[in-house]
Amino acid sequence: MNTKECKLFIDNEPFRFKVEGDFFWGAGEALYEAENNIISKVPWTQDGYKVVDAFTSEEFKRFKESVRQNIMKAMSSNAIDFEPDTFELESYHKVVTTNEAHLSVINQTRNLTNADLDFDIDSLAERFGKVLGYRLTSWIEELQKTHIQIRISRPSTLDINPPHRDGYLSYWKDIINVWAPIAGCNDKTSLPVVPGSHLFPEKEILRTESQGAKINGNTYFVPCILKTADGDLHMIRPNPSPGQAILFTPFLIHGAAVNRSDVTRVSIELRFPKID
Ligand SMILES: [Fe+2]
Repeated sequence: MNTKECKLFIDNEPFRFKVEGDFFWGAGEALYEAENNIISKVPWTQDGYKVVDAFTSEEFKRFKESVRQNIMKAMSSNAIDFEPDTFELESYHKVVTTNEAHLSVINQTRNLTNADLDFDIDSLAERFGKVLGYRLTSWIEELQKTHIQIRISRPSTLDINPPHRDGYLSYWKDIINVWAPIAGCNDKTSLPVVPGSHLFPEKEILRTESQGAKINGNTYFVPCILKTADGDLHMIRPNPSPGQAILFTPFLIHGAAVNRSDVTRVSIELRFPKID
């Protein structure tokens, strides 16, 4: 594997990090199919993403508490010392102070299902289904489970996945991606996307294979996209408010969510396949 420098722009600010992998230019046209795809009925088809309302304030409060409980459970089972009554997600990095401890926590919080959260995920599937004009489910047939992943990003770390498209993985081809802020999300921490990038042809994408990119010693399932034929990636942070979420096609390039604030950022990722 070669080590390359990934250089990109987030809201016009440069960001660089080292990534190990074998990079190659793709072949052919865009994998995104314009007909009958999950965002084909919305007015934002060309952008590939949209910030929408996701939770009522009461629901958001309950959902956030449930995320906090899951993170505390993961900390407890890894013998990390903290005070449950006062623990706040934004101060996670002051409690989980080593990379090793953080990796053991996210090892647990990256693979949650419906049963782990005190929240009816299917009510969200119905809500987003109405936005998209398709019936959605939370059940991922190929994986035989629902998919709920808590993302924890500590300040000024490489707690990031590379710029990528989830649609390269077969089980994420026909889903809507949902990214929702939970704590510490703002214009310096929230998920960057490349607007319209689902339309980029493969032959204009320089990337690795799946499970072919390593950042800071961590191997990622998704391929890393280093750049396009136009040059370095230009990303923006749509920055949804608490209670909102970003909906986006799995072919939109996103990731590299470096935390440029001084608090821990916590977000959640959900994926809903369409039924029709
Ligand atoms: Fe992703």
